[in-house]
Amino acid sequence: MQMNTQEIRNAYLKFFEERGHKVIRRAPLVLHDDPTTLFTGAGMQPLMPYLLGEEHPAGSRLVDSQTCLRAQDIEEVGDNRHTTFFEMLGNWSLGDYFKREQIGWFWEFLTDVVGLDPSRLYVTTFIGYEEGGIPRDEESVAKWMELFTQKGIDAAVAEVGSEADGYARGMKPGEKIFLYDGDKNWWWRGSKIAAMSPGEPGGPDTEVFYDFGLPHNTEYGEHCHPNCDCGRFMEIGNSVFMEYLKTEDGFEKLPKQNVDFGGGLERIAAAKLNDPDVFKISLLWPIIEKLEELSGKSYKSHTNAMRVIADHLRAATFLAVDGCVPSNKQQGYVMRRLVRRAVRFAFDLGVEQNFMQEIVPVIADLYHNDFPEVAENRENVIAVLIKEEKAFRQTLRKGIREFGKFDKIDGGALFTLYDTYGFPVELSTEEAFKQGMELPTDWRAQFDAKMAEQRQRSQTAAKGDFAGGLGGHTLQHKKYHTATHLLQSALREIFGKELRQHGSNITEERLRFDFNLDRKMTDEEKARAEELVNGWIDEDLPVSYKMYPTQQALDMGAIGPFGERYGDQVKVYQMGEGDNVPSLEICGGPHVDHTGQLAEGGKKFKIKKEEASSAGIRRIKAILV
Ligand code: ALA
Repeated sequence: MQMNTQEIRNAYLKFFEERGHKVIRRAPLVLHDDPTTLFTGAGMQPLMPYLLGEEHPAGSRLVDSQTCLRAQDIEEVGDNRHTTFFEMLGNWSLGDYFKREQIGWFWEFLTDVVGLDPSRLYVTTFIGYEEGGIPRDEESVAKWMELFTQKGIDAAVAEVGSEADGYARGMKPGEKIFLYDGDKNWWWRGSKIAAMSPGEPGGPDTEVFYDFGLPHNTEYGEHCHPNCDCGRFMEIGNSVFMEYLKTEDGFEKLPKQNVDFGGGLERIAAAKLNDPDVFKISLLWPIIEKLEELSGKSYKSHTNAMRVIADHLRAATFLAVDGCVPSNKQQGYVMRRLVRRAVRFAFDLGVEQNFMQEIVPVIADLYHNDFPEVAENRENVIAVLIKEEKAFRQTLRKGIREFGKFDKIDGGALFTLYDTYGFPVELSTEEAFKQGMELPTDWRAQFDAKMAEQRQRSQTAAKGDFAGGLGGHTLQHKKYHTATHLLQSALREIFGKELRQHGSNITEERLRFDFNLDRKMTDEEKARAEELVNGWIDEDLPVSYKMYPTQQALDMGAIGPFGERYGDQVKVYQMGEGDNVPSLEICGGPHVDHTGQLAEGGKKFKIKKEEASSAGIRRIKAILV
């Protein structure tokens, strides 16, 4: 049976809906309510508060397809599998069903609904962690055995251990279930199981891999195994079983055990086509076809450039839909890089005229039925992207003139031209050659070294952001989150009800809050805001929440982050009671229980900085000190 990517997504949602799950909408790529991370990079990210115990308005079984962006993969795009933007299919049990149901359903979905050949599927599970007293995940192993047997496959179990062990031992005939250690098949917000600190939740996971049947490439390691990166195997889904809590002396079972599943929609679609090139799937191929038409070049001869453009413009389109604009900071900077890289790869295709207005409508059509917000915002998206495209094409022209400033084009100059003007190294060498400039024989090498340095930096930064997002639920974060609500109330009292949140970011050290105001705050206004917030802290107001139908919450006057979309039911946090309720906000939480906690240790709320963030938007940084 043929099934395109859109049909796979919808079949997945329906399958889990039929099994008691509530379909929830995708969260935006830029999360207003998880202020500690740049982008939504996994389906569980917007659900973190609920995985840590908060009640979800839609119940204990949830399913969705979450649009994700992983900026750290920008430079990897161009091979057959990396994309910065992708959809993660997700289903969750919040203290409801557990391993047997989860593994059985995902298998049924893959084999009976999508129709993947079970003989091409391999799975990995957790081998155990002796030092922590955690046994191997026998329940998952037993369930997988049962499922393979039902399909007439005699599945042997392979005791692998580490990834390095995998490369050394390879695979034996009949092996289907591979046991790996805590660096591969254990999930918590960090990476190594041994680095978990007391209070951290985590648990074993089990992953499913599709075998494309390609020959092993020994550049990756001596022998192939499911976690090998050579391209034969592709991971298509990961079921995380949040089962344990790290304690001072080891681990104990969590009172409420959750399932967090993440599946790569694009990858499952590639497996369905039995083609390792994800760009062939129905959510990407029409963009490639459009590029072939515009350029008169073929995908076969310009594979790399077309993959980069298709990926980056799909990502940039969704960013624009979710309210992001190119800039020099944070999310805006990543968006700028995506658009600029797409434009310079368009040069390789010989597309020298603006082309956003040609590509965005193709993307909008692909999501027409499922994420109608793309088509609804089409003209605005085109306007945002074309503005950046025009500016960048101008920069490129200027870059050509900059050549005159260099005596010779060495690695450093190539890097500057690349980094500042977005000049691809090939374009620079061509131009230097045209202008008869001296080209040292080693640059490429120097250039590559500089590139590697930059890549390292951006990967480290991206990792930090993600870990921050997952870690953002300590008491200190909760205090700053509560203080953020009180600050918004104070500002609305001073400047009126038109004032709204336009962004927020919380660390253990401070809060940061963006809001609309077309001028600098005066010292008196800042002092007044501090006084109001500290007054509410002194009153030690109770903090509580209740679920309401969205319209009712809005009618009650509850405010929510600008542009956020809501489900049928929302959670409303209230600070205070009776006639004295300074704050009523639609918010996922978590918060402290009463505002007096913010003053623990004799602390006071203090505004450290008030500055411009962008046109018409001011930014406050504040601390409890
Ligand atoms: N949270 C898990 C992942 O991102 C499902 O792989």
